[in-house]
Amino acid sequence: SAHVESDLINILFTEEQIQAKLQEMADRIAADYEGQDLLMVGVLRGAVMVMADLSRSLGRHVEMDWMAVSSYGSGTKSSGVVRILKDLDTDISGRHVLVVDEIIDTGLTLSWLISNLSSRNPASVEIATLLRKPEALSMPVEPKYVGWDIPNEFVVGYGLDYKERYRNLRDIGTLAPHVYS
Ligand code: PRP
Ligand code: MG
Repeated sequence: SAHVESDLINILFTEEQIQAKLQEMADRIAADYEGQDLLMVGVLRGAVMVMADLSRSLGRHVEMDWMAVSSYGSGTKSSGVVRILKDLDTDISGRHVLVVDEIIDTGLTLSWLISNLSSRNPASVEIATLLRKPEALSMPVEPKYVGWDIPNEFVVGYGLDYKERYRNLRDIGTLAPHVYS
């Protein structure tokens, strides 16, 4: 369909639920980093929506920077190859870094990113993710802030894409079968 909303068959989380969850996470983050400077690092492209809403829910000063990585070394994610497409513009040495992503699936992206960022001598590195798929996790990733654990099914919306579409949905859900055929 030309109308983006009508391809969702099952809404897992509505815009209202997402915003409420992000506010809860933001309150925890604001309390944990009270009195400290904070640099949020968003992982392009999926984390754009979470970064925008989580950062605005903080109610405090925060710096933002972005990284883009590719986990398609030889075609598939399972190759385990990650490379930097766009690095930070910020020197994170001595900084408190909070990596923000919208989903942890296999954990490949963030396990690699955390070890990469850790080698730059930050004061701390933690992860905030809106979603996590515990059944799919195959790399060691321990996010401090998790919105929801979800089953291992393909979800779109709020930054999550299928063939680069559906990122601009306000809700998160599963796609109708006709979309895949
Ligand atoms: C997706 C998603 C996460 C990552 C999670 O990004 O946004 O960053 O995959 O999967 P993983 O835990 O198995 O690594 P993707 O690399 O597809 O790029 P995108 O953010 O541009 O959509
Ligand atoms: Mg991503």
